[in-house]
Amino acid sequence: MPATVVVGLQWGDEGKGKTTDLLAESVSMVVRYQGGDNAGHTVVIGDEVFKLHLVPSGVLHPHITPVIGSGVVVNPRTLLDEMAMLEERGIDTSRVRVSRAAHVIMPYHVELDRAAEARLDSDGIGTTRRGIGPAYADRAWRTGIRIGDLLHPDELRQKLMRVLPQRNAVLSDSFGVAPFDLELLMVDALEWGRQLKDLIVDTTVLVQDALSAGEHVLLEGAQGTLLDIDHGTYPFVTSSNPVAGGACTGGGVGPRQISAVIGVLKAYSTRVGAGPFPTELQDDIGRHLLEKGREYGTTTGRRRRCGWFDAVPLHYAVAINSVSGIMLNKIDILSGLPEIRLCTGYRLDGREVSWPLDADELLRVEPIYETFPGWDADLTHLTYAKRLPANAAAYIDAIEALAGAPITLVSVGPERNQTIVREPRLISPTTAYPRLAIA
Ligand code: IMP
Repeated sequence: MPATVVVGLQWGDEGKGKTTDLLAESVSMVVRYQGGDNAGHTVVIGDEVFKLHLVPSGVLHPHITPVIGSGVVVNPRTLLDEMAMLEERGIDTSRVRVSRAAHVIMPYHVELDRAAEARLDSDGIGTTRRGIGPAYADRAWRTGIRIGDLLHPDELRQKLMRVLPQRNAVLSDSFGVAPFDLELLMVDALEWGRQLKDLIVDTTVLVQDALSAGEHVLLEGAQGTLLDIDHGTYPFVTSSNPVAGGACTGGGVGPRQISAVIGVLKAYSTRVGAGPFPTELQDDIGRHLLEKGREYGTTTGRRRRCGWFDAVPLHYAVAINSVSGIMLNKIDILSGLPEIRLCTGYRLDGREVSWPLDADELLRVEPIYETFPGWDADLTHLTYAKRLPANAAAYIDAIEALAGAPITLVSVGPERNQTIVREPRLISPTTAYPRLAIA
């Protein structure tokens, strides 16, 4: 009963949508296990570009059941709009399933997120303002509304009567925002329930049944390891667990049911929103990565901050996700740069330090770089690893050695066929451990 997890090893936007899409042929179910409509997956199929925020990208394949697991926070309006968009483009969405235990992002969550971020302005986290944090906060406070509640008017009303006055008080007293009317919220919420009714199930049972039947289940994370609320650069993180462990809690699988973890990397680094980013480039090279890599947020359209590949957190990310294989994306974007730098260490107050570090320490570190000669060749038509320019191959080998896990797939463009499959290899941990030992 194979379950495969696809997880981002950086700050999100590594190209997990493409990885999922590549594996889709062998999979019968794709489960999103955390996050909400803060995420964005771009999948390119032929001339068609699909931008998805909430519905798992498996929906593009008729044989796949796309599942939104209990660890996800769901904005029903986004979900319904996204399904309507897919239907308009000829994609059947009747197979989508939503966990009844998933929490609802209510309109007051969105407003709280917006108001708090606007108040903090330049000191904010730079959230996507989709209400993600406030919805997870209500979950933790046990005052959340769950998807299943949308089907039960009496219980829903009771829950709203308890929580709404508190959230309204914060909105109006602290932020001067107009309070929400309970009756109007009830009308909207029951309408969402009516429209989603046939999709709402216990997704853990669904996933377990699929695994028992020997089906291949793919669990897809949103965001990335460095945005994980436990393992990321707190407080500049999202409010859930993108790491592979999140697939167990939010996707409904047990640790021993996971047979493979595919870690997804981009050949350079990007970050959206605030927070430390030691290898950030604010020069022409940064602009090259931004423009050539089209590094604009799928959800907010914001420019992503761009920088050199940071290998310092890599070994930690590989370890905590127990990565079995890596997909390295966007190597083609580096073509044309005279030299390429790889951050292999940090110096803080005159001494070398390793991951993990606190956000305030990370803000002060000085990156230590290894420099690689660049290459000019266009890589976008390559399908064989042996055809890669020697300098590109050397760069990939260096990342692999630092990761301590095999890079089995290298992507040279957004389309499915722009992917190089590398020979499986054994990576000796000794290549990576001495320099990147976990402190
Ligand atoms: P939130 O998830 O909207 O609360 O935002 C928290 C942090 O995570 C912010 O820095 C966001 O920019 C970042 N973030 C959230 N979703 C994504 C994503 O899909 N890709 C990259 N960054 C994200």
